[in-house]
Amino acid sequence: MNVIQTKSLTKTYEGKGGISDVTLSIGEGIVYGFLGPNGSGKSTFVRTLLGLLQPTSGEGYILGQPIGTTKSREQVGYLPELFRYPDWLTGKELLESHAKLCKIPVRQRKKRIEEVVELVGMTGRERGRISGFSKGMSQRIGLACAILNDPKVVFLDEPTSALDPIGRKDVRDLMLYLRDQGKTVFLNSHLLYEVESVCDHVSIVHQGEMIAQGPWRELMIMEAQVEVVTEQSISVPIPSFVTSIQKVREEESRIRWGIQLESESDIPRVIQYLTSNQVAIYEVKPITPHLEDVFMHWVNKKKESKYVDHQ
Ligand SMILES: Nc1ncnc2c1ncn2[C@@H]1O[C@H](COP(=O)(O)OP(=O)(O)OP(=O)(O)O)[C@@H](O)[C@H]1O
Ligand SMILES: [Mg+2]
Repeated sequence: MNVIQTKSLTKTYEGKGGISDVTLSIGEGIVYGFLGPNGSGKSTFVRTLLGLLQPTSGEGYILGQPIGTTKSREQVGYLPELFRYPDWLTGKELLESHAKLCKIPVRQRKKRIEEVVELVGMTGRERGRISGFSKGMSQRIGLACAILNDPKVVFLDEPTSALDPIGRKDVRDLMLYLRDQGKTVFLNSHLLYEVESVCDHVSIVHQGEMIAQGPWRELMIMEAQVEVVTEQSISVPIPSFVTSIQKVREEESRIRWGIQLESESDIPRVIQYLTSNQVAIYEVKPITPHLEDVFMHWVNKKKESKYVDHQ
């Protein structure tokens, strides 16, 4: 089932900025990464999906309901990017007022609030006033509000910007927990190292344009890379399945090589080849590609095409 669907959705601000022509479909039970540098249109897109901004053109649906309608928002949770809650309230009071707004039945409120407070790691601190919360605590209570009504879709706009490494790990675990419950998490972020461990599917946006989308590991033809530490110089001929080989570092009596291969299945082949040619091997370390490589690949490609366009 399509949980979020858009067709050429566009929101510009008097013809400038914003984001244009986004077509995507997102299913259930996934954490979807919407990635792009500052000012690329991520928040504009989410705010448009939530009906907080009127689209300039195009269509959008959440759980089959047209965006902008009350129905499309019924099963949605949202952590805005720059949120400010009334800071004279305690965390618990804020959640209670949210529970009322979400029409959570009175009898279930106490239990649900306890549950979400626990999920965001705030148990014991929810009775403090928001004015006394650190940035990280405010972000956690914001997350608690976003998931309070047990939504099917959760939009998180830069949910870890104020968090320390422990907090970031907690939020990652929370996103995976929601995913495992069959929810769809739409994550706006530019923190690629964080996103890569929770998202399989991403969109990459740049200057208001979608430049790539899909499972990120498939968005670029990625050769296999391996680092091999040997004792002496490799003086055997380079076999055809090795794309390139270069010296990374010389370490006392050892040499560290970076070897590029056509595919992962060539890793055992190269080891076998070196060993059968009497090259002593001390270490083999496959190098896994990162989302950042994929992201930079597409951003650079876009910049190059713009450059060519202007010629
Ligand atoms: N209310 C507004 N009026 C005019 N232009 C705006 C408005 N909001 C955003 N923009 C412009 O639209 C573009 C996209 O902004 P947006 O906030 O959606 O980007 P973003 O990807 O969320 O950035 P960030 O990573 O900094 O949060 C930017 O060029 C921005 O200047
Ligand atoms: Mg933003």
